[in-house]
Order: sequence, then structure tokens, then C-alpha cells
Amino acid sequence: MGIKAFIFDLDGVIVDTAKYHYLAWKKLANELGFEFTLEQNELFKGVSRKRCLEILLDIGNVTATQDQFDTWMVEKNEDYLAYIDKMDSSEILPDVPRVLNYLKGKDIPMALGSASKNARAILEKVGLISYFDYLVDGTNVTKAKPDPEVFLIGANKLGVPPNACVVFEDALAGIQAANNAGMTSIGIGDESILSEARYNYIDFTQISNDFLDRLIT
Ligand code: BG6
Ligand code: MG
Repeated sequence: MGIKAFIFDLDGVIVDTAKYHYLAWKKLANELGFEFTLEQNELFKGVSRKRCLEILLDIGNVTATQDQFDTWMVEKNEDYLAYIDKMDSSEILPDVPRVLNYLKGKDIPMALGSASKNARAILEKVGLISYFDYLVDGTNVTKAKPDPEVFLIGANKLGVPPNACVVFEDALAGIQAANNAGMTSIGIGDESILSEARYNYIDFTQISNDFLDRLIT
């Protein structure tokens, strides 16, 4: 297929941090007097922190002053970072290191494409930072997925045209962003949610080295 570079989302693709985002948002919701369910948490995948808080307040029918909004953003992130602080390499999702090592062994450029402002800290915690030639994260994107910006910046930094890039994503908005960028999208997770992906796998254990070879030749 002539693929020359791979771009990885972080949360839900490399590590299962969605559970920590959920616990931190749930704590805030409970403090504000309402419930926040795992099902509602699905809406938060791939979505920026600010937008998540807007959605959370809508769910709870809570109106906030700008000061309260800012305080709650900080509070949620501090609670989230307390979980991140305890992370280590045991939290890398199955077979992610095998795929990263295989591609690295073939000198294939790799970038991160994440909405998270905590991406660098998380990759450092789990010991994967050195695999990535470039990180695009919440600190250098202005338009949220499904806008293709995050992945187009990644392709540009790697010096590879978008149609020669593969994107691994667990969020529908991320698959749409990859498709909008003209890249080959690979959904990691539930096929019924990620049906717009070019390929779909439940996790990286299903992604064989042969399949990677077929993509890059
Ligand atoms: C995405 C997550 O990767 O990053 C979202 O899927 C999260 O759930 C977003 O809201 C922003 O993350 P952070 O770490 O900057 O709050
Ligand atoms: Mg994700």
C-alpha cells in the first residue's frame, strides 16, 4: 500500500487512560451533585479538556461563572494527574510495544497525534517517548478532531504526504479526522462505534507483522 509513516493516538490506543479521565470527571460531577456514567464517558473520547467540561456541565444542568469553569478544569486535571503519576510500563496496552519495535526496526517514522496536553508526561511515565519522532498534542493543535489538523501537522513534521500515513485511533472523531486528512484509518476497539475506519481491530494483538508489512510495501 506504500505507507511511509504511522501516527498513533494516545489515550485508548497506547494506554488505557480513559478510565482515569472517567474517575476524575466523575468525582467533579459528584461534587457538583450529579452522576456521570461510563456510557456518557464515551462522548469524551478524543475531545479536548475544555469541551469535556462544557459537556459535563450540560449533563448536570450546571451553569458556571468563568472563574468556576477555570477552577474545575484545574481541579479535574490535578485529580487526573494523581492517577497518571502512579502509571508505569505495565499500563501499556497489549502488543503496543511489539508493533512499535517492529516499525522502529524498519526505520519507519512515527508520530503521536493526541488531543491531550498531558501526552508527553504520559509517554515519559510509561517509557515510550523515544519511539516517536514527533509529538503533536493538545499543546500544539488549535482545531479539535474530527478536524484533520492534528494528523496533518504530524505528517508534515515527518515529511510524509498524508496519503502515505496510517492513523491508529480509538475514537470516532479521531477516525473521521484521519479520513478527513486523506490517511488510512485503523480503528482500535469496538467496530460498531468505529465503522468509518478503513480497518478495524479490537486491539494490537490482532495486528500482525504481516499486516504491517502489507501496509508498508
Ligand atoms: C484525549 C482523550 O486523548 O485527550 C480525552 O481521549 C481528553 O478524553 C483529551 O479529554 C484531553 O486530555 P487532557 O489530558 O489534556 O485533559
Ligand atoms: Mg483516544
